[in-house]
Amino acid sequence: MKRLSFLMVAMLVSISLILSACGTKEASKDEKSDGGASKETKTLRVVTDAAYAPFESMKGDQIVGFDVDFVNAVAKEAGYKIDLVHVGWDPLFVEIQDKRADLAVSAITIDKARKETYDFSVPYFLSTNKILVPKGSSIKSAADLKGKVIAVQNGTTGQAAAEGILGKNSKDIKKFENNNLAIMELKNKGADAVVADNTVVEEYAKNNPKDKLVVIEDKDSFAQEYYGLMFPKGSELKVKFDEAINKVFDNGTYAKIYQDNFGTEPDIENLKAQQ
Ligand code: ARG
Repeated sequence: MKRLSFLMVAMLVSISLILSACGTKEASKDEKSDGGASKETKTLRVVTDAAYAPFESMKGDQIVGFDVDFVNAVAKEAGYKIDLVHVGWDPLFVEIQDKRADLAVSAITIDKARKETYDFSVPYFLSTNKILVPKGSSIKSAADLKGKVIAVQNGTTGQAAAEGILGKNSKDIKKFENNNLAIMELKNKGADAVVADNTVVEEYAKNNPKDKLVVIEDKDSFAQEYYGLMFPKGSELKVKFDEAINKVFDNGTYAKIYQDNFGTEPDIENLKAQQ
């Protein structure tokens, strides 16, 4: 009998030890997932395609660019830490859809089709597609692209714009995994033009004068687009990040980041008017 109760005490002690160990584990997990008292501790997985300078590109093993500065400022304002990971363009959509990532920042245009599958923040950047061609090219407008070979990044609004001109299944549209590869194809004369976001092609032409490329604008053919942060459908983060974006619009942080990256003033009023 004595021996039995000793055994029982021993068992009870070990059970309570195990339980308390579990308890500690649970508590620290909670702290991580909802921040416990302060949500500062929650780290969000943020995915991008870091081959789209000046918005996101690799500098050594660092991801740098306007989007990086922007998402850092907004996340901080919302009370989150972020872990920004370069996963590539097509994979980032899969990660958000599968809810493996909390949000994506990647110069992503808010459009009707994407809105069916994803949630977007309020707009944070105005963009339009433009045409990158070699100096001296006969291409002076979107209409001139007919009969030419266009290189685009697969799954972008640039691809959609090219399809609008050459037709959806045109074999004269060469699609690449990232926009740098599309530009390389142009330089290697495998394409006559690249269609991509104005800021990206303008920066490229400016920073690589040796490549002798120029940018063609065609306002009548290419619509105005707005970038947004992209979330899994129904994510609670959307509202928090919208609030934070409006705060950085109003407190001068957005203008500072914009100025640091582009050397000009943003039109915040126009961005806000789109909300
Ligand atoms: N704005 C365009 C789109 O949403 C192109 C974005 C490409 N972004 C990138 N990081 N590669 O389709």
